Amino acid sequence: MENSIEDDFQLVTSKKYKRNSRVFKSVPAEVGFESDELIDKEFAVRRILTAKNDILESDFYCSLKATIREGLDILGNPELKEIISYGLGHFSNCMISRYQFALLLCLKDQFNIVTYLYDPLFYSIEKQILEEFDCTLIKQNEEGKRKVLSDVPTLLFFPHCPKQLTNNFLYTNWSPKNLRNCLIIGNSFNKIVETTPTRILSNEAQYILNIAPYVDELYMINTFKYTEIFNDTSLHIFQEDKLRLIDPDFWTNIEEPTYPEEDCEFITNQ
Ligand SMILES: C[S@@+](CC[C@H](N)C(=O)[O-])C[C@H]1O[C@@H](n2cnc3c(N)ncnc32)[C@H](O)[C@@H]1O
Repeated sequence: MENSIEDDFQLVTSKKYKRNSRVFKSVPAEVGFESDELIDKEFAVRRILTAKNDILESDFYCSLKATIREGLDILGNPELKEIISYGLGHFSNCMISRYQFALLLCLKDQFNIVTYLYDPLFYSIEKQILEEFDCTLIKQNEEGKRKVLSDVPTLLFFPHCPKQLTNNFLYTNWSPKNLRNCLIIGNSFNKIVETTPTRILSNEAQYILNIAPYVDELYMINTFKYTEIFNDTSLHIFQEDKLRLIDPDFWTNIEEPTYPEEDCEFITNQ
């Protein structure tokens, strides 16, 4: 059953891609197991290691490292101390999540820092795998409301996460002092603002909407061989000097976000 996930690729050939005759247009849909009973842990670990190797050897990873270096440079070269990742999904049986987890592991090694993860959907086997890779599982659903510790420059990895998660994270860290420590890899804020009606953003992502004009967004060039894994993703950084020019009212009188109940992607702790 596991192999069929990989074998499901759509093979496309076109003049444009003739030189790379095997171009994967699309990754297969997630296979939704109800539980992890059917998952072979050793097999899953092997596939994660293979994915990690693929990432390490890719131009995409080279260019991502350069983008992160550029971001750190702009911020005056703080030393990253932590990685926090939400919303990875089922990395044991979903290819997109697996490659995202593989990238996370590469970044963890690169910066040699502690890595915390949470997704309410993680299977118990996935929690065990996290431990094997020396990652720390966050024990509860924080709904993204995690305050970065002062003077702990933190890389946030929110791959294709519901916008409410990022919105909650921004709300919780809504000050120049906190945001300067946050480097967010996630869905492009610019794209969210450009493609979502303001009426919806005002309800579901007010903090993304408000901070968008002041964020520095460094696009991640999506050259990875599977194009749906890191698409529409950017590195977002916040320059304290820039943020301090904003009217102080912008940072005060803020309200905790609430969201319409019917949203199906964002999972609350209720
Ligand atoms: C659109 S999926 C993205 C999965 C995967 N990263 C991808 O790119 O396909 C959104 C993910 O966010 C997770 N999620 C939803 N609410 C969350 C929460 N409160 N904390 C952490 N992750 C959450 C979901 O379980 C799901 O895995």
